[in-house]
Amino acid sequence: MSDKILETIYEKERERLLSLSSSTLTGEYTSPVFGEGKINAQLMFIGEAPGKDETTLSRPFVGKAGKQLDEILKAVQIDRKTAFVTNSVKYRPTRIKRTVANRTPAKNEIKESAECLKREIELVQPRIIATLGNSPLYAVSHIFSLGNLLIGNVHGAPIKIDDETVLFPLYHPASVIYNRSLIDTLKSDMTKLAELLKT
Ligand code: URA
Repeated sequence: MSDKILETIYEKERERLLSLSSSTLTGEYTSPVFGEGKINAQLMFIGEAPGKDETTLSRPFVGKAGKQLDEILKAVQIDRKTAFVTNSVKYRPTRIKRTVANRTPAKNEIKESAECLKREIELVQPRIIATLGNSPLYAVSHIFSLGNLLIGNVHGAPIKIDDETVLFPLYHPASVIYNRSLIDTLKSDMTKLAELLKT
């Protein structure tokens, strides 16, 4: 039953994205990457948007950032298979550099994608929503009217959403690939998340 509801949520988002094809925004709308993992998971990871590898394989976090995420999860003994993993935006936002390159989704794209994410959250009902980077933090703040939260100020500590749910903001695993000084921060925040999961 839940799987069917999830399929319906994604079908609706697929239709919305196809209706955007004449938009001036660029992105691989026709190859969306949807969430995967356990429905009823206690923990939901929300990333920014799929990249090239994710779009090719139709799975979230399977490229460079995914490998970084898997490595850190392994170090803190969180089993990715027990979580639900999705993104704030379900298509790859692109720009033309010399070839096609990833870009950060614009705020309006995150807002326009928020209905799909909201319905995923309602279906999975995670106890902990762990956002990876600023885009999903913006998406979740928008959905639950949490105000203007910035990752640099709020990472590594739970923020109450309601009696059953907390938001746990983390840096994006790709940001630590390009900024090595952040890796210790992300590891230490992830350790706190692992502790919270045990409570
Ligand atoms: N970065 C993200 O935010 N999500 C993915 O799925 C892959 C890379």
